[in-house]
Amino acid sequence: MAALINPSILSADFANLERDLQLIAGADYAHVDVMDNHFVPNLTLGLPVFERLAQVSPVPLDGHLMIEDPDRWAPAFAEAGAASVTFHAEAAQAPVRLARELRRLGARAGVALRPATPVEPFLDLLAEVDMILVMTVEPGFGGQSFIEGTLPKIRRARQAVSESGLDVHIQVDGGVSRDTIERAADAGANVFVAGSAVFGAENVPAEIGALRDLASR
Ligand code: DX5
Ligand code: ZN
Repeated sequence: MAALINPSILSADFANLERDLQLIAGADYAHVDVMDNHFVPNLTLGLPVFERLAQVSPVPLDGHLMIEDPDRWAPAFAEAGAASVTFHAEAAQAPVRLARELRRLGARAGVALRPATPVEPFLDLLAEVDMILVMTVEPGFGGQSFIEGTLPKIRRARQAVSESGLDVHIQVDGGVSRDTIERAADAGANVFVAGSAVFGAENVPAEIGALRDLASR
């Protein structure tokens, strides 16, 4: 399966986001972490910044909304130019209605699961989403270590997607590096978010290529 590499700009230089987006022009999407200081104990950037990033980015934006009340706020990110909008299952009141709204606005719709959130309740709703994001760290911060205990959930999600015959992506986010990406790929992930591994590398474009090679074997 072709692996998609989505560097997380959470680890980019926030004073030079346009420059750092150019550095990852060889990636598949730019992963943009939106945090509201309520759903997670951290605050990053909001809609006006997101909208400008969508205008200048050489790659499409993959928005990851770690926010309360995504039912209210997520559609605006699709309107702001996100190619993909992922909201958290734990925060959404009506995930199917929200996913349908995001798709209607022309974005791919993703549902994200914290490490302790089971995937089973969503397996019957696979036709309603384009991506399941299995968080492989607790959301909120970059640079944490990969939680190996999330691998069975990735496997269950992949099995259900395969059985359904639907084209639903399985994304992993958190602690993804040269050391962990192969295990996530073996378990069935096909979209890989990496923040510190990419932006902490000496040669960012080469790191993207190395991660893609490891995940595509
Ligand atoms: C964490 C964010 C991640 C973060 C990953 O809540 O969702 O996208 O940037 O960072 P690394 O790759 O450093 O674990
Ligand atoms: Zn993220």
